[in-house]
Amino acid sequence: MLLSKEKRLFRRSVLHSFSVFSNLSNGRVCQGANSFKDKMSSIHPSIMDTESLKRRIQMPHPKNNVPESIIPKIGRNLHLLPHHPLNIVKQKIENYCQEYASKKYRNGTSQTGNALNKFEIHDNLCPLVNTKTCFDDLLVKPDHVSRRPSDTYYVNDELVLRTHTSAHQCPLIQSGTTMFLCSGDVFRRDEIDSSHYPVFHQMEGVKIFDNSELVLGDKEASLAVIESDLKEILTGLAKDLFGDVDMRWRNDYFPFTDPSFELDVFFEGEWLEVLGCGVIHNDVLKNAERSGCQGWAFGLGLERLAMVLFKIPDIRLFWTQDKRFLDQFHGLSDNPKKKVSFVPYSKFPLCYKDVSFWLPAGVPLHPNDIYEVIRSVAGDLVERVDLFDEFVNKKTNRVSHAYRITYRHMDRNLTNAEVDEVQFRLRDKLVEQLKVELR
Ligand code: PHE
Repeated sequence: MLLSKEKRLFRRSVLHSFSVFSNLSNGRVCQGANSFKDKMSSIHPSIMDTESLKRRIQMPHPKNNVPESIIPKIGRNLHLLPHHPLNIVKQKIENYCQEYASKKYRNGTSQTGNALNKFEIHDNLCPLVNTKTCFDDLLVKPDHVSRRPSDTYYVNDELVLRTHTSAHQCPLIQSGTTMFLCSGDVFRRDEIDSSHYPVFHQMEGVKIFDNSELVLGDKEASLAVIESDLKEILTGLAKDLFGDVDMRWRNDYFPFTDPSFELDVFFEGEWLEVLGCGVIHNDVLKNAERSGCQGWAFGLGLERLAMVLFKIPDIRLFWTQDKRFLDQFHGLSDNPKKKVSFVPYSKFPLCYKDVSFWLPAGVPLHPNDIYEVIRSVAGDLVERVDLFDEFVNKKTNRVSHAYRITYRHMDRNLTNAEVDEVQFRLRDKLVEQLKVELR
């Protein structure tokens, strides 16, 4: 995935955050990070354990649209599991970037006292963030589609499950960092198919340049230095991951970088979008209280890279606990140069069922609302869902939707009776929860 999804968000004209937790006993969540201690607690939110976090996320609020099916995913942290393909890709990227930094950047410390040639690693920041750091600080317009409850999981008016790791940019930059790599799970309400899942993982890279690395008093020349360093590190990263492949840079748009680019690589016969990046917008640095500084940022989807590199055909596989999947990656972390393709251990038969219904009159329903009910009932048994028919009855003005649900278990055979039972529960739930009228 994940860039394609990310890009769609931005092109629909997007984006994502951070929050500071304190005083866990009464469940209060602070929105600001003023003192050093506050800043540190926002950067090291491990002070909130997974169970408290889950309870916080489930606190009732009229705007809370986090479904129960998301809760067990909180704290799984697939990117931190040894030998997991997401962890392997994460490590490969971190190793490459650290090596680049140690060779390319000056030894020494910045005015803020941070190392100039070593990325800080942040891979366990709290996924519950506020809309300020997720959207506002990053110049995402108030009416941008990415903020809509149809696209984003809200816990209340101010708190969301981060929709991208860029949510951590401003707080980390504000803490005085010179450079960091930040990875974690991100959450988006979306369609259902082999490359879309409501929880996936991203990595963000940021470098803020020290004056000594730029051309003093010449913003344009400094910009050229930043842009060329950004392209150099990322071209090298793509080579490290994909080998000696053709690459192309394309101009892109993100609200928080200017200029913005996308990197594509030509891999096994097709052009793949690998990442988005750019020079950090001056106003973002201002929001992080580092006006006058300059730097670059990039963001990439770990699932997308792992799916391509290891030929993993379905995004649900990352969540399986089946040893036939996980064992294939053992030994790879110690031997990162070894090439692996995932060997599908099964191609269990698929089975599809259709459901069609009238939407409730006068209530705007988004297909993402339907997908979510399907997920909540059928979970990872669903391989994909297609809205295959949609029309308005001219007389009654009512809207009809028809969905085809493809069921396939990744680890075993499904029986017809089992699928029927799920489909019946699903039909009931659609009526009960969304008030649709089955046809
Ligand atoms: N946050 C962006 C996304 O989710 C990716 C990105 C990160 C782009 C940093 C530019 C700079 O699509």
